[in-house]
Amino acid sequence: MKLILLGCGTVNLSLLEILLERRLDLSARHGFRPKIVAAVDSRGAAVSPNGLDIEELIRVKKSKGSVAQTGSSGRVGMNALDVISTVDADIVVEAIPTNLKTGEPSLSYVKRAMETGKHVVTANKGPLALTADLLPGLANRKELFFRFSGAVGGGTPILDLAARCSLGDRIVGFQGVFNGTTNYILSELEAGLTFEAALKAAKERGYTETDPLIDIRGLDSASKLVILSNAVFDTRMKLENVKVKGIQGVTRARVAHAATRGRVIRLIASGGNAPAVAPMEIPRESPLAVNSAMNVVTFELEHSGSITISGKGAGGRETAGALLRDILTIHAKLGGFNASRDETAPRVATVV
Ligand SMILES: NC(=O)c1ccc[n+]([C@@H]2O[C@H](COP(=O)([O-])OP(=O)(O)OC[C@H]3O[C@@H](n4cnc5c(N)ncnc54)[C@H](OP(=O)(O)O)[C@@H]3O)[C@@H](O)[C@H]2O)c1
Repeated sequence: MKLILLGCGTVNLSLLEILLERRLDLSARHGFRPKIVAAVDSRGAAVSPNGLDIEELIRVKKSKGSVAQTGSSGRVGMNALDVISTVDADIVVEAIPTNLKTGEPSLSYVKRAMETGKHVVTANKGPLALTADLLPGLANRKELFFRFSGAVGGGTPILDLAARCSLGDRIVGFQGVFNGTTNYILSELEAGLTFEAALKAAKERGYTETDPLIDIRGLDSASKLVILSNAVFDTRMKLENVKVKGIQGVTRARVAHAATRGRVIRLIASGGNAPAVAPMEIPRESPLAVNSAMNVVTFELEHSGSITISGKGAGGRETAGALLRDILTIHAKLGGFNASRDETAPRVATVV
């Protein structure tokens, strides 16, 4: 199976490392023998129709800063649109920075990938949260797979669980914590830090988006709420439809006051009739009261009641695991080895 990687940062470099480490296992258990036919970063590309040497690709990216420096395969200045348009591949794996204003350039890359007949796996929230069903619709028309389980919850399979729950029952609502940065800050406020010190600590740990306001003002949570809502309720929601309030007004004193009543403050995303993101006081023993950079979601099912899943919401290896999960699902659906393992996964991941 031929893959094009867009972006060679934290997530896609982790994916390359996992592909290298698990090469034998992936081949034996899944019949999956990927060829990376191109990899692109902000400065250029590496292209080889017979498959790039993954070890060399990782080494060059880490030591020289760009995949474009990869021996005879390197193409300085070659951009993602050129690569997608000219290189033959089965799946485009997209992990470039999120843009929550326009979705670009990722939006154009995903569209071009589909227009040229390639399946797409992405970890990028922006294009999905801003354009409702545009991309799933395009994938459907082109009869392509489009999967994005890494876009919500990092490696925690929130969208996959939602899809399973929706098969035999109906999800009528959900509440969750979808942003590790703000959860970490709120947890640190509980421990006595000021907001500024907690934000600084979150930045030092690499939890924040490039622009931390995207986390703090609740936009990152809201974008995940949109993606999950559209998957669960089959709606056409966009980021602009969510009522969003961030944690910028939450003080150490307010957190301490809540603690005296056995309560904690968490940035809760609520999906249902009135989609909203807002800091809420919840009981310390609530399943939603996760600590540090964890994510959690509780689905309310019509017949089965509440089902909760929690786990790490971000991280290179974790999110790369979600990309690999999506890639293997497509591989299986296309008739790969062990194709019977996931008979329920639909072609387009509006419900993943
Ligand atoms: N990191 C996580 O824990 C996590 C979790 C869930 C979802 N995600 C999502 O996954 C995506 C990638 O995250 P990341 O942490 O891997 O980001 P990152 O470390 O900043 O890496 C981004 C990569 O994209 C490349 N890039 C930037 N603009 C490009 C362009 N126009 N064309 C081609 N490549 C371009 C960068 O090139 P250079 O190397 O040359 O700068 C870099 O290699 C984001 O959308 C993020 O929201 C990340």
